[in-house]
Amino acid sequence: MTLSAPIIRTIEWKEETVVVLDQRALPHEEVYLTCADYQAIADAIRLLAVRGAPAIGVAAAMGMALGAMGISVQHMPQFLGRFHKIGDILIATRPTAVNLQWAVDRMRAVARHEQHLPLAALVQRLKAESCTILEEDLRCSTRIGACGVPLLAPEDVVLTHCNAGALATAGGGTALAILYQAKAQGLPFQVYACETRPVLQGARLTAWELQRAGIPVTVITDNMAGWLMQQGRITKVLVGADRIAANGDVANKIGTYPLAVLAHHHRLPFYVAAPCSTIDITTPTGGGIPIEERDPHEVTHIDGTLITPPQVAVCNPAFDVTPAAYVTAIITDQGIIEPPLARGIHAVMEAVR
Ligand code: MRU
Repeated sequence: MTLSAPIIRTIEWKEETVVVLDQRALPHEEVYLTCADYQAIADAIRLLAVRGAPAIGVAAAMGMALGAMGISVQHMPQFLGRFHKIGDILIATRPTAVNLQWAVDRMRAVARHEQHLPLAALVQRLKAESCTILEEDLRCSTRIGACGVPLLAPEDVVLTHCNAGALATAGGGTALAILYQAKAQGLPFQVYACETRPVLQGARLTAWELQRAGIPVTVITDNMAGWLMQQGRITKVLVGADRIAANGDVANKIGTYPLAVLAHHHRLPFYVAAPCSTIDITTPTGGGIPIEERDPHEVTHIDGTLITPPQVAVCNPAFDVTPAAYVTAIITDQGIIEPPLARGIHAVMEAVR
């Protein structure tokens, strides 16, 4: 299988530091942050320098490795205790995207299983595991892309929300990986990108990525999707996910749920693309998914300018939950899951266990 997505390296090791593409500066500037310790990674995740569920999973794994490098104790039990606490700090940075918890748990499991190693060797083993997680994420993008392409048809007009592209992963994308592979295969299609208030991941990041890849993209404000569907100008909706519950309910960027309801009303397919690391079978339904509430400043200000009356009350949930009933299919790295989603999710997760 060839990787036809335009890889954008969002995060990588440079010797003993982790270098992150700072997505807050895009699309105007390509700025890189050098993280020398786990606190810098925690800040980069919390402040959205690195964002998107798979990307923050990779960042958390690297943060764990940086944390391990900074622990100066002589004995393994103390090391494991401190390593565990670093995981708690990283998990607390963003509660909704389960990839973060998944990556931390995986790093903790490596530390537990390899605790017979000398400390210095264990630290190197943890760094190597974070590289494996990054490589796996790139392969997931390729597989999601390949699985999803057959769902597209010539002249499709695909609506997407937020950014589920290369920037949201180690470098290949989820929802947008499908579009990249479709383009590589010569399929003619175009994309509408919702701007995605309040942080504007669609207008800033998805538009930047797609334009760079030569895919025709039109930015709309979030309140325009219904009208476009009513006019017959959208043929499919394709989004990513931050956490998928065992029953197929999907948490994704705030504003995804209304798009799913609109797609249902207009009888348009509503596809979700995500790696299996985004599926959380320990959470039975979407009601159990924690929804991150972010700083009101994101709503009251645009580019540093106050746009509301000062002191006005603000509500700023970063994600919403789309009920499984509105999801046409979930495109994973292990294949396409069709309704009944709960059964398909169970089968796929059994296979990857
Ligand atoms: O707050 P963000 O920018 O991290 O939110 C990202 C999203 O909601 C994406 O759609 C999701 O993580 C899927 S990314 C492949």
